[in-house]
This record gives sequence, structure tokens and C-alpha cells, in this order.
Amino acid sequence: MGDKKDLLEESRQGEVLHFNADDGTKVGKKLYIESYGCQMNFSDSEIVASVLGKEGYTTTSNMEDADLVFLNTCSIRDKAEETVRKRLNSIKHNNKKKKNVKIGILGCMAERLKSQLFEEEKLVDLVAGPDSYRKLPELIDDIEDGQKAVNVLLSREETYDDIEPVRINSNGIAAFVSIMRGCDNMCTFCVVPFTRGRERSRDANSILNECKDLYSKGYKEVMLLGQNVDSYRWSENKDLRGRALKEAPRDEVVDFAKLLVMVGKVATDLRVRFSTSHPKDITDDVLFAIRDYKNICNYIHLPAQSGNTRILEKMNRTYTREWYNDKVSRIREVIPTCAISTDIITGFCSETDKEHADTVDLMKTVRYDLAYMFFYSERPGTLAQKKFEDDVPEVIKKKRLSEIIEIQTQVNKEQHAATIGQTFEVLIEGVSKRSENELRGKTSQNKMIIFPKENYKIGDYVNVKVESSTSATLLGTAVEKVNY
Ligand code: 5AD
Ligand code: SF4
Repeated sequence: MGDKKDLLEESRQGEVLHFNADDGTKVGKKLYIESYGCQMNFSDSEIVASVLGKEGYTTTSNMEDADLVFLNTCSIRDKAEETVRKRLNSIKHNNKKKKNVKIGILGCMAERLKSQLFEEEKLVDLVAGPDSYRKLPELIDDIEDGQKAVNVLLSREETYDDIEPVRINSNGIAAFVSIMRGCDNMCTFCVVPFTRGRERSRDANSILNECKDLYSKGYKEVMLLGQNVDSYRWSENKDLRGRALKEAPRDEVVDFAKLLVMVGKVATDLRVRFSTSHPKDITDDVLFAIRDYKNICNYIHLPAQSGNTRILEKMNRTYTREWYNDKVSRIREVIPTCAISTDIITGFCSETDKEHADTVDLMKTVRYDLAYMFFYSERPGTLAQKKFEDDVPEVIKKKRLSEIIEIQTQVNKEQHAATIGQTFEVLIEGVSKRSENELRGKTSQNKMIIFPKENYKIGDYVNVKVESSTSATLLGTAVEKVNY
């Protein structure tokens, strides 16, 4: 089944992603989960496994062994939903559904379609939205009583902060830590604010405890997750809520920069990553934290979405092309070695060739280290769907997409070639897919390097000299182990 983390990085939100897990236990009821879409969904599946673990369920990597099959779904683009529907069809046609197996749809598609899913997909027994996973035991009781079960209530409070995730999609080295849920941004193209609800931040102490616990178990990297991590805001003072929390003076709250530093201090050899940053919210203090703590990785995912100011306004991104460019310059001024990645949408409503050329130009100017690129997919219920016409023909959307993919591939090829001869500190995450005798690991900038195994072990930090490259990977040789 390939490497889950690699898959995660290759596909991000909305593509065909699934993982499963097998903890080897042969007794009790078995749960099989496939996750689609963003890293948050993968993280949520670990919460689900934990909630059901308390009910005696163990996870299995084999759907045929399962009593309960869950698909944790994504709605971000039409294609993501189509993938899940095809999966349900294949389950039906392959007769994988044993007589007593129950099938549940979790996540964003559950939230978007609610009980309508029962009409559309006869196979489905249970529908649970992202804020209802604590209720899964009750919902399962309902289906065992022969009913269809649904809970799609969104919450303003739920952060699952007391639930210790079962690390089903981890390599034992890097783990996801969810720090906030929901999104208040209302980008006009995006369904997330509707499927994941209002923004809320998790208790900083519980985040910190989770990171400390992971480190004590041998983990070397934590990925702090949120739809918009830079608007993380939490206070010990429970009276500070909503607007009051947003407006409270900095010394009364833990903001994202403070949280990063807290987590960065857990251990010098515990790497800290985070995603996703909204360009409007990332602060200098976040940049200073990255600059000042070597273990806070030099990598920022800073989705631009478009390089044209009129389109950005129509998307409700609240920044202009110039403002975005200034943010990139500021990042490079404070952290010269920082890698920057982006998300781009081509063919948003009314985008002209000339406006698309601004996106091409932005990509050529910024020269991203990585780009996740999509053509616009109209989502029901979003502001764009209500207010604008989806008027760029699909062939044009796709042509523009191919154009930017080509540019990005060329940029990556050149960037990789330029790293030949340089040495990077790499955290070894696993064995290479190409050969048992090679290891793979990542630089602080999130670049994968493959190198001969020698006597190095998974979890070691090593300095690796880059010797050759492709547009996707760097190949090198380890120079020495880094001791902490
Ligand atoms: N169509 C295409 N891409 C979208 N994204 C979000 N909504 C849509 C949509 N309707 C992309 C954005 C976002 C990423 C996670 O998915 O680029 O940053
Ligand atoms: Fe969607 Fe915008 Fe929120 Fe990202 S910031 S989840 S694109 S609404």
C-alpha cells in the first residue's frame, strides 16, 4: 500500500488518498477506515479509531475482516466526492459488503449531503459529520438496532482535545497534531466553512501534552494542523470567547507564534511543522519563531490561489497580488532558507487569459518549492456558486492548469539541480520505495532525499550530501550522523 505520508504530500486536499491500519489484534470487532482529502481528515480518523477503541473496536487493514467500514470523506472538489462514490460502487460490485458489515460515511461529504446520502447511496448505514465523532458509539447502537443513523451537528466548541488519537497513519516518526478546527474565512470558492464549521482553537496545554507524549514515545516530528493555523488563539481565561478572544491583548492569549515556540521547546530533536497558513494571518512573530528555533522547520505553505488582484478579491482572499508578494519577500528576508509552497486554482469565475497570465507570472517570480494546483470546481452552497457564473469552459481551465503545472515542474527541476553538492540535515522517515538498501528522509524545507542505508536507522538525523536529482526527488549520500 505504499507510503501514507508520501501519498499525503503528493495529493493533499481532495485526491484519492486512503490509509488503513492493522494493529494485529484478532479479537473483538474490527474497524476499517479509509481517509480521503486533507491531512485533517487523516488526523480525524485517528480520533475516530480512538473513540471506537474504547468500545472494543480494533483497526484492520483488511476490509473483508471488518465489521464496520468507514470512509472519511472530502468535498473540496467535485472529483473528491466522485472518488468516494466510485469507491462505494466498487465495494458493492465486489461484494465486499459481508452480510453484517455496516458502512459509514464520515467527514465533509457527510456534512454536506447529510441524510440525502442514504437516498443516493443505498449501501450507507451511517452518516457522521466532523464534529460528531464522540457520538459514534450511539450511532452504531442505532444501526445495530436496524436503523439508519445520522449526526451532522456542527459545534462551536468541539476540539476533541481530551481524546488521545490512535496513530493509525503514522510511520512512528512523524505524527499529526490537530490544533484547531473549522474555518471562518469564507473564501468564495470553498466549501470547508460549511462542512467543518466555525473556527475554534484547542487547549494549548493539551496540544503541548500530546507533543510531549509523542516525543516520549520516540516520535521526531509533529505536524500542527488546522485549516488556518495562523488564527490559532486560546486563553486560560474561559471568559474570553468569540470576538473577545480575537480582540484580547496578546499577553492574555496564546496565539500561533506562542504555541509554535511552546512546541518548539519540547525537545531540540523534535521537528515542528505546521499547515495551512493564510497569507493574511501569518505574522512576523511566526517568522521569528521559525528563524530562532532550528527544529521549527523552514517551510511555509502559503496558498496564493491566484496571482491576479481582481480574482483574489472575487475569491475573498482579502489580499492583493502586491500584498502577497510583499509577504513572500518578508518571509525570505527573515528566513532566507525558507521553502514556500502554494495552492493555485485556475479558471475561477470570469478569469480572463490576461488574469491567468498574472498567476503564471506570480509562479515564475516566487518560484515555489512546491505547488498544489487545481482547476476550479464549483461547489454547491458556496458564495461563488450563489453569486458568480462558473463561466470559464473546462477545456480552458484545464489548459491553464497544464500550463502552470509545466512551469512548476521546470522550476522544481532547476531548484533541485541547484542543490547538487549541498548538504542538508535529514530526518530519516523510512526505507525508500525503490530499494531496501536505501533510506528516505526530509530536509527542514520538506524536500525528500533518498540515500544509501549504510548503518543509519529510521529516526536518526543525518547530514546528507545531494548528488543528483529529478524534478521530484533528490538523491544523495549520508555524510555523518547528527547527534542531539
Ligand atoms: N475548486 C478547486 N480547488 C479548490 N480548493 C478549494 N476549493 C476549491 C474549489 N472549489 C483548493 C484551494 C485550497 C485547496 C485545499 O483546495 O486551492 O487551498
Ligand atoms: Fe477554504 Fe479559504 Fe478556509 Fe482555506 S482559508 S479552508 S480555502 S475558506
